[in-house]
Amino acid sequence: MESRETYMKQLKQWLSETSGTPLEEMSDFFTARLDDYEAHMSVWAASYQSFAGMLPESCREVLDLGCGTGLELDHIWQKNPDIAVTGVDLCGSMLQKLLEKHSDKPFTAVCQDYFEYDPGCGKWDAVISFESLHHFLPDRKRDLYRRIFGSLKPGGIFLLGDYIACCEEEETLLRSVYIQKREQSAIPDHRFVHFDIPLTLEHETELLRDAGFVIEHVQPNPDNATIITARRRG
Ligand SMILES: C[S@@+](CC[C@H](N)C(=O)[O-])C[C@H]1O[C@@H](n2cnc3c(N)ncnc32)[C@H](O)[C@@H]1O
Repeated sequence: MESRETYMKQLKQWLSETSGTPLEEMSDFFTARLDDYEAHMSVWAASYQSFAGMLPESCREVLDLGCGTGLELDHIWQKNPDIAVTGVDLCGSMLQKLLEKHSDKPFTAVCQDYFEYDPGCGKWDAVISFESLHHFLPDRKRDLYRRIFGSLKPGGIFLLGDYIACCEEEETLLRSVYIQKREQSAIPDHRFVHFDIPLTLEHETELLRDAGFVIEHVQPNPDNATIITARRRG
């Protein structure tokens, strides 16, 4: 695996090369790349497999935040096709692809911003999210994590698979570029754009603990998708 130093050097190089590239609106970004999306994400195949393996066998009702075309669900339903999933995604074209792939599954599609979606109270065996929440600042996630906690049945889990910053320098650098790019293009706060602003593991787990979760397991993966199992203790 490449060293942190090499990784940061390459990241800085990429940020410099793309400094003039304007930000794209979140849903437009994924719609424009829909045809190649699943091929592009195939580098995370092993992590999708692990993610599905970490969902407890007993789960029956699952909420997936940012489900996209359902790559994590491909693996989850392969293990148990009866798990009922509600998938929330703001990109209609990604959801449409999921519906075409899995028309035979117990799936409810919700085309909505997950920060606006009401997940209910004490309802889900598990809430899951894969490679979606690293696009948002901690303040937004703090409130969402509290609502996820309250929406789980006692004993339920929040399974989060996401891009985690390798160090504070990466977190701080990406956040400052994100803020600068938004300001340059005068993008209002309520508009979502596609740009990665991952937190370090320490900061991500701090947000989860603040919401009431107990962190039970953290699995870093070679492809940089870290899987965190956070439980609402019964
Ligand atoms: C990189 S894709 C991951 C999709 C899927 N989980 C997977 O791993 O293939 C991120 C997804 O999150 C969705 N997304 C981003 N922000 C969102 C928000 N605020 N509310 C709902 N969906 C969102 C995007 O539309 C996109 O489908």
